[in-house]
Amino acid sequence: MSVSAAAPSGPRSYQVRTWMAAAIAGMGGLLFGYDTGMISGAQLFIEQDFDVSAGGIGLVVSAVTAGALVGALLSSGLTARWSRRAVIALSAVVFIVGAVAAAAAPSVAVLVAARFVIGLGIGFASTVVPLYIAELVPVASRGSMVALFQLAITLGILVAYLVNAAYADDGEWRAVFALACAPATVLLLGMLVLPESPRWLFAAGREDEARRVLETLRDPDDPQTARELEEIRATVEADRARPRESLARALTSPLARMILVVGIGLGVFQQITGINTIIYYAPTILGKAGLGTESSVMATAGIGGLNFVATIVALAVVDRINRRTMLIGGMAGMALSMAVLAVTFAVDDFDGPLRWVAVGSLLAFIACFAVSWGWGFWVMASEIYPLFIRGQAVSIGNAVQWTANFAVSLLFPILLAAWGGAVLFSVLAGFGVLALVFTYRLVPETRGLTLEEIEREWRRRAGVADDAAAAPAA
Ligand code: BGC
Repeated sequence: MSVSAAAPSGPRSYQVRTWMAAAIAGMGGLLFGYDTGMISGAQLFIEQDFDVSAGGIGLVVSAVTAGALVGALLSSGLTARWSRRAVIALSAVVFIVGAVAAAAAPSVAVLVAARFVIGLGIGFASTVVPLYIAELVPVASRGSMVALFQLAITLGILVAYLVNAAYADDGEWRAVFALACAPATVLLLGMLVLPESPRWLFAAGREDEARRVLETLRDPDDPQTARELEEIRATVEADRARPRESLARALTSPLARMILVVGIGLGVFQQITGINTIIYYAPTILGKAGLGTESSVMATAGIGGLNFVATIVALAVVDRINRRTMLIGGMAGMALSMAVLAVTFAVDDFDGPLRWVAVGSLLAFIACFAVSWGWGFWVMASEIYPLFIRGQAVSIGNAVQWTANFAVSLLFPILLAAWGGAVLFSVLAGFGVLALVFTYRLVPETRGLTLEEIEREWRRRAGVADDAAAAPAA
């Protein structure tokens, strides 16, 4: 293709192409959200069909997070060998297999196994999709493009809440599972036609292809395109020039350790500050706050809707406001909302207006989360890791995040019964305060920096020379 072919309507068509790619890859997020949201309703009917114990239902619910944790860990090995696109395509196939098996499950044991397989697919997708998008898009819109992944998660949750409501009368839980095959198929077909990550191609020694891909996604007339290609080349070459060291050694170097602490901290704090106590258990919390079943279901749908709408707002501003400002401001609101919720449970007089204060604090928490840590974790996870550890580090960070998700979703009902809402929500608010300190002290600003500039900033902080490898552990 000649360079002049790009002008003058060119830049827009490059943008459209990049957005399309990000949107299709974002289907991975939709699947993730759908499976997070659907089980809250489906479990009621599964219970009736199989006459299963509470423990059995707990397994059906949490098998997805366990699978996702294993999937996130396995993606480390996969991304080291396979291209980003291949791993995403695999996640779609695994997902379809799991969804079909779940829809046809003759017993609870098969259902739990199928949910675990679905989780594997989600673990692969949640690790590699944000990575792929970040490596594909121009730096100026990287935040909003990766935040698309979060938008897709929230859309998936909302769709699941609505599908649950639609099927509530006839208890058709098998159809609710089977429906998830549609976005998985779009994701699979998308991966057959979308371009490979140019950064991955470059690192794999396929430089001509990398250049060709970049030139279909960027305006060749824009000087920034040549600069981006040079930056990628410089990083890959510096990486190649480093003495080879084992993965374990690379990951335990002081530089990698410093970055992993931040990446893991972001994932853990995203989870232990309480988001999924609301996403999975909103009807339970609302029931305890005195709402009837119907009002609880309505309020839960409202929570899903607000989560989605607030994420759209976030998407509009994510590349205009510093990441740190949003993370700190959002977490302050989240911790405050949890503290207010704790107070309502301490007063424990839900006959009057206090119940609406409780509902309001849940909604406030969701809105604050959606504009900050919802997209924040995924965006930061896709951009803070240097190329030499990116695939492995994202996978470790995500696995720990899924572990935290698993622990919270498993422990919440137990601790709510044992401690009561006042204590439990105070603890979650306390984690919010810790998250504030952590973000203020350790999380760097990444907005507007290329992935290569971010790597240089880490090296500066760690006192490691630019061209040196992650210095071997002392
Ligand atoms: C979190 C999920 C959560 C969802 C809610 C995501 O960023 O990782 O655990 O359920 O946001 O919108």
